[in-house]
Amino acid sequence: MAQNGSANGQFIIDDKDAGVFKVSRRAFVDDGILAAEKRKVFDRCWLYVGHESEIAKNGDFVTRNIAERNLIFNRDRSGQVNVFYNTCTHRGAFVCREKEGNSRRFQCFYHGWVFSDAGDLIEVPGRDSYCDHFNSDGSANLARVERMESYRGLYFVNFDKNAGSLYDYLGGVREYIDLVVDQGEAGMEIVGGTQQYAVDANWKLMTENSIDGYHAATTHATYMDYLANTAGSLAAVGMGGGGRQLGNGHAVIEYSAPWGRPVAQWVPAWGEDGKKDIEGIKAVLTEKYGKERAERIANMNRNILVFPNLVINDIMAITFRTFFPQAPGKMHVNAWALAPIGESEAFRERRLFNFLEFLGPGGFATPDDVEALEMCQRGYKNMEAVGWNDISKGIQRDQPATNDELQMRAFWRQWNALMTVQEAAE
Ligand code: FES
Ligand SMILES: [Fe+2]
Repeated sequence: MAQNGSANGQFIIDDKDAGVFKVSRRAFVDDGILAAEKRKVFDRCWLYVGHESEIAKNGDFVTRNIAERNLIFNRDRSGQVNVFYNTCTHRGAFVCREKEGNSRRFQCFYHGWVFSDAGDLIEVPGRDSYCDHFNSDGSANLARVERMESYRGLYFVNFDKNAGSLYDYLGGVREYIDLVVDQGEAGMEIVGGTQQYAVDANWKLMTENSIDGYHAATTHATYMDYLANTAGSLAAVGMGGGGRQLGNGHAVIEYSAPWGRPVAQWVPAWGEDGKKDIEGIKAVLTEKYGKERAERIANMNRNILVFPNLVINDIMAITFRTFFPQAPGKMHVNAWALAPIGESEAFRERRLFNFLEFLGPGGFATPDDVEALEMCQRGYKNMEAVGWNDISKGIQRDQPATNDELQMRAFWRQWNALMTVQEAAE
């Protein structure tokens, strides 16, 4: 069988002519593979760290754990955005122990060194015991992350100082990020509050699940029934659309669906007032972007994967979700809601209700998804009997459907390409 993407096909078998695409289950359970992923994927790719609105004012900061690094994402008194390693240059303690806040300085609680919001070491208790030239080279200032770049308000970091630009890395997925960011006339903001949960499954199962149209009708049958009962005539809209691979492992499914979208698809549950509001939002979008783009923004849903682990679900509400491995069979998930700045109170309420109702940890979808992912992970215990997953749905179609698996193959091809790069030390 022809195999491409790796010399020996140890991770994937990718053969369009034969209609075969398989992924080795070792990829989900093996400690050595996780160690290699850390070096070859998470230490090489651009990783989402946060949104500009989370640090809107000078002095605002949030702390984040990104690929096992504790980081401070802040806007300093000059308005500059920084990402620092949250470790005191004296002997290592965190210099910031809060999740978020506003501060002009970070004081280490251990021996009391103080750093400015621009990372400079500005106070050292007992300074006269140190040499006069101590820190004259700045080496005791907070360390900055190797690379930080942003695209339309989304900030990313890269731990590889030689990485190419974020702009080029995003490539084909920029078009879809634009369709999300363009929803806010005055820009977009993260709504306060983070969903955090742990899942006993490999992180790549969450990547697959987040762009998997195939499972919706079965895993989320309860929600689909609920929609059929509440969305009235719109239930006939269906799930038309398709999946696309966007280069560099990024992928998307874009489709219409019967649920309400605060921007800007009305459902009967929102009443006549809601209908007028939606028409108003649609008119603004049409004015700004023209009819065709406005229709696409308003009425199409997008599940977007920014390789390797940022998912933007632009569905009933907009969810940003990241997930990082803790072990081959365990991940930590963070999720935030994004919304247009200045949206009416009623629509913000509907949006947040949607955010919780479907994708919240106690919503219609997430508990079922988590159950499915954890069951898959348990299923991999029988790897000697069944060693490969099948991801071939739609492989010979020119235009794969939303519920085909093209978008997952896009992820796996890139993952495989990175994982099979030979390292100098190997
Ligand atoms: S470890 Fe921070 S001041 Fe000593
Ligand atoms: Fe799901």
